[in-house]
Amino acid sequence: MSDRVIIFDTTLRDGEQCPGASLNPQQKLEVARQLDRLKVDVIEAGFAVSSPGDFEGVNRIAREIKGRVIASLARSVPKDIEAASKALKPAKRRRIHTFVATSEIHMKYKLRKAEEEIVRLAVAAVKLARKYTDDVEFSAEDAARSRPEFLYRVYEAVIAAGATTVNVPDTVGWAVPTQFGQLIRGIRENVPNIRKAVISVHCHNDLGLSTANSLAAVLNGARQVECTINGLGERAGNASLEEVVMGLKVRKDLFKVQTGVDTTEIYKSSRLVSKLTGFLVQPNKAVVGSNAFAHESGIHQHGVLMHRKTYEIMHPKEIGWGESKLVLGKHSGRHAFVERLKGLGFRLNDQQMEEAFERFKVLADRKKEVFDDDLSALVEDQISEAVKRFSLVYLHVTSGTGVVPTATVRLKNPEGKTLQGAASGDGPVDACYNVIDRLVGFKGKLTDYIIQSVTSGKDALGEVTVKLSSNGRVEHGRAASTDIIEASSKAYLNAINRLLFAKR
Ligand code: KIV
Ligand code: ZN
Repeated sequence: MSDRVIIFDTTLRDGEQCPGASLNPQQKLEVARQLDRLKVDVIEAGFAVSSPGDFEGVNRIAREIKGRVIASLARSVPKDIEAASKALKPAKRRRIHTFVATSEIHMKYKLRKAEEEIVRLAVAAVKLARKYTDDVEFSAEDAARSRPEFLYRVYEAVIAAGATTVNVPDTVGWAVPTQFGQLIRGIRENVPNIRKAVISVHCHNDLGLSTANSLAAVLNGARQVECTINGLGERAGNASLEEVVMGLKVRKDLFKVQTGVDTTEIYKSSRLVSKLTGFLVQPNKAVVGSNAFAHESGIHQHGVLMHRKTYEIMHPKEIGWGESKLVLGKHSGRHAFVERLKGLGFRLNDQQMEEAFERFKVLADRKKEVFDDDLSALVEDQISEAVKRFSLVYLHVTSGTGVVPTATVRLKNPEGKTLQGAASGDGPVDACYNVIDRLVGFKGKLTDYIIQSVTSGKDALGEVTVKLSSNGRVEHGRAASTDIIEASSKAYLNAINRLLFAKR
């Protein structure tokens, strides 16, 4: 059996499916570029048939990212498979990923179809997909709760029809490691033509076992793991890429396999996805949480100083986690700025670069030292603002002890018209939000507001993430500034713009 585990990243499909994490096509492309640098094997770029935005996202990634296999999801119906194939057409290497449910509960209540019909649908879907590409993956949705003998039959039939990867999803995060490992072993031992396909797993995290289940599957012969950056995904999320990859690497003695992932790009990938989706990483998250390498207790600190490996099983550098470097200042020129952004992995066109440089100059005026993290925040802001409807032109706030907080705000609307208003509130941020609501005509709800600093120091950039809900839809907005009221207002406007974009 091969000792290479294929890493299939589904951040842009399953990850993006979770409420409030939606990305526009430009943001998807940014994430795909980072996944390219991370060297995952397969990028599942979206579910082409599900919306024009998804179609465009898959298509743009297929056009630009040439070093990875690009995949699109498709139900086992012709219109999905045809949309996937159309969106993937420009890709150098393309995969159609088709699925149908195989558990009794899904077949009976969701699909209202008998086993015979499911096998027929699956085989027809794989055959059709093979007309467009020779790389076809078949997923038996809710496999972990399916009858194993039926699964063997389905997998045998789809492999005979041309599937090159058979995926075993734990769709509802129901499995536990020993049992899931046995299921994979059972598939290896009971599907006669299994050697013609790669066994893949796709584990959800409802019981917090997605990484453990994925690793148990590898021990039992799975050679593809589907995962997402930061474990993003439906409900409690998917297996997190950083945990799976570092698990396989750190415990190579046990797993005896390797991946093609450049682990030094993990930290950057985690930050980018967190910024663009507005889903913050919990501090104690394995591998990429801010406390993952922090040693608080005296005993631990002493141990690490004497010998790092006493309390550290991996080095922060292995995941690309270094000191945020001092890079530029007020007197730095355009050339140094462009080179530094390239070094950070950002690729901007001339106009975007010009805009970023203008922003940098404003920031460098306010802040003596500009760090890598500041630059990333600046450009990520620019990407987030790409969906510009309303933009902030002017802001004046009065606030203090014994003063009624009041804000005057000037905005530009999508037609370029200037709108101005003033309002009070129970604090300066509330006052700004009251004016913005009135000017924009926004009637939704602020459901979350988080503020944190990008780097350390009193002059650090403050980064604000907000979540807004309106008509059952949740969107986030994010912005950074040395002025936290300005960051709060811009983040709020970003979220409103995203809600308007989504509505459109
Ligand atoms: O969780 C799941 O079953 C899925 C499949 C479509 C692979 O996401
Ligand atoms: Zn899933």
